[in-house]
Amino acid sequence: MSDELNDIALAMVKPGQGILAADESTGTIKKRFDQIGLANEEENRRAYRELLFTADDAMNNYISGVILFDETLRQSTKDGRRFADVISAAGAVPGIKVDKGAKAHAAFPGEKVTEGLDGLRERLQEYHSLGARFAKWRAVIDIADGLPTTGSIAADAHALARYAALCQENGIVPIVEPEVIMDGPNSGHDIQRCYDVTELTLNMVFDELFAQRVSLPGMILKPNMIVPGLNGPQVPAAEIAEMTVACLKATVPPAVPGIAFLSGGQTEEQATENLSLMNAMGGLPWALTFSYGRALQQAALKAWGGKPENVAAGQAAFTHRAKMNGMAASGTWSAANEKMAA
Ligand code: 13P
Repeated sequence: MSDELNDIALAMVKPGQGILAADESTGTIKKRFDQIGLANEEENRRAYRELLFTADDAMNNYISGVILFDETLRQSTKDGRRFADVISAAGAVPGIKVDKGAKAHAAFPGEKVTEGLDGLRERLQEYHSLGARFAKWRAVIDIADGLPTTGSIAADAHALARYAALCQENGIVPIVEPEVIMDGPNSGHDIQRCYDVTELTLNMVFDELFAQRVSLPGMILKPNMIVPGLNGPQVPAAEIAEMTVACLKATVPPAVPGIAFLSGGQTEEQATENLSLMNAMGGLPWALTFSYGRALQQAALKAWGGKPENVAAGQAAFTHRAKMNGMAASGTWSAANEKMAA
């Protein structure tokens, strides 16, 4: 086992902190900017990321890592400081999304497989030279009638393991992200169905990680929580917390140093509450924290609205959310904390 990879992984899940997923591809950030009526231009993307990464209170105290997109890793603040350096100076680890997206899986109607292995070694080497010390690869597993199939999960599990091994070969900690989708086109399933599909997926992913000789102490898992589909029968937060911890205990070896959840379409407060309840349970063999995109950024994006005069308001909203999730990472959040001044 490489101590260096394990050190990076532990730094990514420091107590009371978590990861900001700011790796929206150019296409995905367009959907976010559309909500505030902002043009999807490079300077707007740069300005928005500068707002997030220079929110000092949030970055210094609650954010242990930031996932970037290729374009963002190459960008700088208005006054010329490289984003990767700004993030490192705040004590957080810069990371990079390296998959090339989920594409239709040939011969598996309605299912996707994530692409991006070709040329990955060379891309990782360049990203390392640009300051990235961890990477992310996301597999997408949709729940629908008769789906997912084991054939499609197996293809994604194999790609995740090949990606993870390549990362470790190049001094980069892989975030392994198999996302069972809660808000797909058919999201009427119940929480038990999410449990069953996630359990199967995680078992298949860890089988492949073992087969491809991935070092578990040098990786981070980024799973979905066990939740009902968006249009399925809803359940209390305590049930989500209990079922999620049960599923992870049944599938994730304790040698994995940290688990950082995606938010996946939960509201900001739901994502915070669920995480806090899990940590409050105690007795977990891994650090359990957040790696949220939407659930960390939604309020900040709205408060900013693309206007230079609102940068401070956007940063205050981001800082509040980061702080709430920092508390959730220690299991100490309660709804009353939401009223605290940002
Ligand atoms: P969400 O928290 O918005 O799901 O995004 C996290 C992420 O990085 C998905 O790959």
